[in-house]
Amino acid sequence: MSQLQQDLTAALLEKDQRQLHPVFHPSKHRTPLVIEGGDRVYLHTTDGRRILDGMAGLWNVNVGYGNQVLPDIAAAQMRKLAYTSNFVGMTNVPSSELAARLAGFAHPTLNTTFFTSGGSESNDSAFKTARYYWFRLGKTEKFKIIARKYAYHGITVAATAATGIAGYQTMFGPMAPGFLHIPAPNPYRYEGDMQPGETVGQAAARALEEAILREGPETVAAFIAEPIQGVGGVIVPPDDYFPLVRAICDKYDVLIIADEVITGFGRTGAWFGSQLFGLRPDILDFAKGITSGYLQLGGMQISDAIREVIWEAPGTESWMHGFTYSGHPAACAVGLANLEILERERLPENAVVMGERLRAGLTSLLEFPFVGDVRGRGLLNGVEIVKDKESRTPDVAMAGRIADLALAKGLRTRNVANVLAFAPPLIINEDEVDEIVRILGSVFDSPEISAA
Ligand SMILES: Cc1ncc(COP(=O)(O)O)c(C=O)c1O
Repeated sequence: MSQLQQDLTAALLEKDQRQLHPVFHPSKHRTPLVIEGGDRVYLHTTDGRRILDGMAGLWNVNVGYGNQVLPDIAAAQMRKLAYTSNFVGMTNVPSSELAARLAGFAHPTLNTTFFTSGGSESNDSAFKTARYYWFRLGKTEKFKIIARKYAYHGITVAATAATGIAGYQTMFGPMAPGFLHIPAPNPYRYEGDMQPGETVGQAAARALEEAILREGPETVAAFIAEPIQGVGGVIVPPDDYFPLVRAICDKYDVLIIADEVITGFGRTGAWFGSQLFGLRPDILDFAKGITSGYLQLGGMQISDAIREVIWEAPGTESWMHGFTYSGHPAACAVGLANLEILERERLPENAVVMGERLRAGLTSLLEFPFVGDVRGRGLLNGVEIVKDKESRTPDVAMAGRIADLALAKGLRTRNVANVLAFAPPLIINEDEVDEIVRILGSVFDSPEISAA
């Protein structure tokens, strides 16, 4: 690093002290990386380093860094119309075009989209819409939301309450009422009770039915689930889980909200994670991959049945919900163009092929005594770090050390508790996949880790 680079970085870090960063603790932000550029799957730092971003930012930069089309689209739209209100009585061209493009795209019954600026807003919108739906049908007691442990649904007051990770909750209590959690369908470490002969999928689905019955079906509005749980540890459910969940929710009139904020737009190799598991949601929330992070955009798709209630049900109460930036023209224009790129470059297909190569490479690392499990779909993968393979006890500290050492060697991963997540941009090629495995293998082999 040159003296000039050092000085510039130091000056910027001084200014950065004036910023409160997400999920902040000062001890963890003493020497942040200052990122000033990116190309393909690589980040560039002000001190001259090139880092392979195995996390595609926050699981979102699907078309990779340095795309030259999306900035032009955003600039052209901003020159023409930077902003207009999308509240009732007005609309704009890109948001209408994108809503039409998304109609029936994920599922034939999801034909109506509400736009937000991100995932938490999308989930809050879904909770309110589920409650509104039952309210308009006269079932005003039906307001509870069932979520799973290890779920991550975001950071607003309601999304935090739906999240099933205590680390996000304890310092912000009390949690909003009306949210409860059941065990995650984790085949590697199921934490609920299992009856003889039951599969994990059956036991986890039974936990849902028991929760609905315990609370009273007349009080439960919706069940929310990520098709693959991301931040909670890249938990891939068994194939029998979601069909059972759908049947249970149908039996008790409970809506299903699929949180596809990570799993949407090709990340798992399917366009949407719910498609992988044959899950038909009533509401589908998305964000992240819709613009590959080039601008802020999220949204919620509602089923035709919910649409009909909002449009047709008797009653005078409007659906009093919306954000200043709902249907932002530039964000929606970028969303449309991003969708075209994902399609034209067949990036979901690339996620399947590269994901298999990545998992094959990561699976070869199972020989290390502290690697308990390798799992994933497409380019959403996790490597579970344990104290030993027999007890499967999570080793969060070791996972953190591995992530730090990998970064020092030029690979960015994120330890979500004791699981190392690998979700690189979907444009990744074979050499770049092999680089991930090579760097991770060299970290595992290093004295700091293998002698620990
Ligand atoms: C599954 C899931 N839902 C919701 C969110 C929240 O999205 P945002 O940070 O855009 O509010 C995230 C963010 O990582 C997520 O992974």
